[in-house]
Amino acid sequence: MPAVVIIGGQWGDEGKGRVVDFHARYCSLIARYSAGTNAGHTVINDLGKFALHLVPAGIFYGDKTCLIGNGVVIDPDKLLKEIAMLSERGVDTSNLLISDRAHVIMPWHQVIDSADEELRGSQAIGTTGTGTGPAFHDKVSRIGIRVADLINKDKFPERLEEVLNYKNKVIEKLYDRESLNFTSILEQYSALADRLRPYVTDTTSVVQESHERGEMILLEGAQGSLLDLDSGTYPYVTSSVPASVAAGAAIGIGLGPTAIERVVGVYKAYQTRVGYGAMPTELFDENAEKLREGGGGVAGTSEYGTTTGRARRCGWFDGVLAGYTSRLNGVTSVALTRLDSLTGFSSVKICVAYELNGKRVTALPAEVNEASNLVPIYEEMPGWSEDVSSVRNINDLPREAIQYVRRIEQLVGAPIDMISVGPERDQAIVTRDIFGGNL
Ligand code: GDP
Ligand code: IMO
Ligand code: MG
Repeated sequence: MPAVVIIGGQWGDEGKGRVVDFHARYCSLIARYSAGTNAGHTVINDLGKFALHLVPAGIFYGDKTCLIGNGVVIDPDKLLKEIAMLSERGVDTSNLLISDRAHVIMPWHQVIDSADEELRGSQAIGTTGTGTGPAFHDKVSRIGIRVADLINKDKFPERLEEVLNYKNKVIEKLYDRESLNFTSILEQYSALADRLRPYVTDTTSVVQESHERGEMILLEGAQGSLLDLDSGTYPYVTSSVPASVAAGAAIGIGLGPTAIERVVGVYKAYQTRVGYGAMPTELFDENAEKLREGGGGVAGTSEYGTTTGRARRCGWFDGVLAGYTSRLNGVTSVALTRLDSLTGFSSVKICVAYELNGKRVTALPAEVNEASNLVPIYEEMPGWSEDVSSVRNINDLPREAIQYVRRIEQLVGAPIDMISVGPERDQAIVTRDIFGGNL
């Protein structure tokens, strides 16, 4: 059986958690492979509404192995609180495993995250402030602490001392901030390690054995491809190493790339972004406000960040960027989310090209100022007023909505197999079962 990767095709918050929760029923193992607590995946199912930051969205099925892979950076305190929250709400977390190779977000990472943002001044990225970026920075700088170090009672004090000596010099001398106390961190993190230890294992072997047994593996991406370090709107991107794009999934979990045969691209029916950086189709009029409040779709699904609560910037669907991220990821199947939110617009627009310095362009320029100066060229289509949240068959959608979906499909260049018309598990139209049989 192949491994399937689910990725975000925009700037994050496309509804990946919701799509993973839907598809996980067909899989034996669901794993996160990149990012950290900066991710916020919302799931609404029979058990309630949940915001997950580290635990894979497959956790709600008691019989699946859920695994946090080596490519993830883990904040132990936040992870343990997430596990406790799930247990208190009746979700079985006994099938959760954590990679011993994953890196740990330590207290200095939050300090550096906020100090870096201050130093960037007008060039601030608008990070989530979770310390995720600096934890990846330390991973690449080879001064990170891994879960294996954290849970090793004999070695952890020594590793902490080495790293903290280094980081305190950086914090004091470079950032002009107060140094951090060794003893209190040691006590706090040793206690957290005791609680984390039962979950920790060599997840690489677990995934590889599952793959050898022919089980279906679902790899849950975080963020969106336009936040990717290499391919996104740099420097207004996130820092995940391996990348959040599908190619990073194999590395972040310990499988060879040939194990991945399908890539599900999750795209929202319009565009959102949190934090700063270019967003060519961003709207500043009443349509932006309407999208932010969830349009004419399911109530209570307004566009505010799952991790930080920040208002998301909203705009029309960007078909140029959607085609770009589809090709970057090798998307074989699209899940289009929040179609219900577009109910109630007299017309809807899709960006099909840009104008830049008087020329028509159809690619994202690498240079940040150019990317910020793109003027979208739109196709305008008639909107619809019908509530679509209870539609389960594509033919029951309003004609205008079908036309809109088909145009997006052309621009993405991959079949739309799932259309989400509400945040709850069953609020979906499935046009092709991508997990069944011989696709
Ligand atoms: P993720 O980070 O990609 O998992 O996405 P988030 O959970 O951060 O943001 C997606 C938001 O859209 C959440 O509030 C979801 O509950 C909501 N959502 C997902 N799919 C749909 C849908 O089809 N319709 C509506 N109205 N809301 C949806
Ligand atoms: P999910 O998985 C949306 C954005 C931040 C900021 C930039 C860098 O829920 O889709 P960071 O804290 O990573 O250094 O911030 O990336 N960002 C996200 N935006 N969804 C996410 O994750 C994000 N993770 C990071 O807002 O602009
Ligand atoms: Mg999110």
